[in-house]
Amino acid sequence: MDLSTTIAGVHFSTCLMNASGARCVTQEDLEQLGESHAGAIVTKSMTPLARSGNPEPRYVSFDGGSINSMGLPNLGYPAYATLIPGLRRFKKPIVASIAGLKPADFLEAVSAINDAKPDLMEVNLSCPNIPGKPQIGYDFQASEELLLRVRDLAAVPFGVKLPPYFDPVHHEAMAEVLSRVGVSFLTVINSVGNGLVLDPESETVVIKPKGGFGGIGGRMIKPVALANVRAFWKLLGDTVQIIGTGGVETGQDVFEHILCGASAVQIGTVLVDEHVQVFERLERELAEWLKKKGYDSVNACRGKLKEL
Ligand code: SIN
Repeated sequence: MDLSTTIAGVHFSTCLMNASGARCVTQEDLEQLGESHAGAIVTKSMTPLARSGNPEPRYVSFDGGSINSMGLPNLGYPAYATLIPGLRRFKKPIVASIAGLKPADFLEAVSAINDAKPDLMEVNLSCPNIPGKPQIGYDFQASEELLLRVRDLAAVPFGVKLPPYFDPVHHEAMAEVLSRVGVSFLTVINSVGNGLVLDPESETVVIKPKGGFGGIGGRMIKPVALANVRAFWKLLGDTVQIIGTGGVETGQDVFEHILCGASAVQIGTVLVDEHVQVFERLERELAEWLKKKGYDSVNACRGKLKEL
């Protein structure tokens, strides 16, 4: 079974990789991804300065999903620029995730990380967890302005990680931005921002930052993730490859993302729960699903969802 894929001209031996944020902050995390069956190494979203992130508890998983308000804890781009060349020994694509608290942060990180030569850059416009900083991806004009400036600087193909959209008008508006800018790929979706999970026994929220509000991930967001993959696939077709993210627990979930139009799939909550061994299981389960449905490759199945 051919589980390989191509994103922006870069070959991935399997279409499964970590979502930025899940077990990818430290050198040890990144090396474990390198040693695992993951098809790529995606870094934590990096900012100019190292950040310890929001106060704990800031991540809780529960039956059906997870809530997080990590607050972009990361080593800072100078550290990742130093680490990336060493990660090449794992012989799989390296995706540098870029974030910032203001537009200049993104540009600084893109310029600096160019020299480390990641295979791709994923520009994160969708972190919901920085108090006072709205998700850029919900502001179409600000997104376009920033991405145009990134385009001028990036020396490797870049894509964008987007928040979930809930209205076709918003999918259309963002697809137009992406087409005008000419981004190479998009990753949808980041967590469903600013959900609230509570414990009725103790009558408290379960995470500390932002009064308990945080990004929701895991099984319960799969329909939202699939809808976003499908909507962008219908709008953009083969011009921009889609990395589906959200709600993937099993090979069936990966198969569904691919049917909707994803060329690759990222794993978040279940990677946190199951560690890097999850990639081997998902690979096996995906191969079983593809075989059962008569496909010989990820590519053959991509976008084949039927409508009634
Ligand atoms: C975080 O670090 O708060 C999560 C990152 C993200 O949602 O992009």
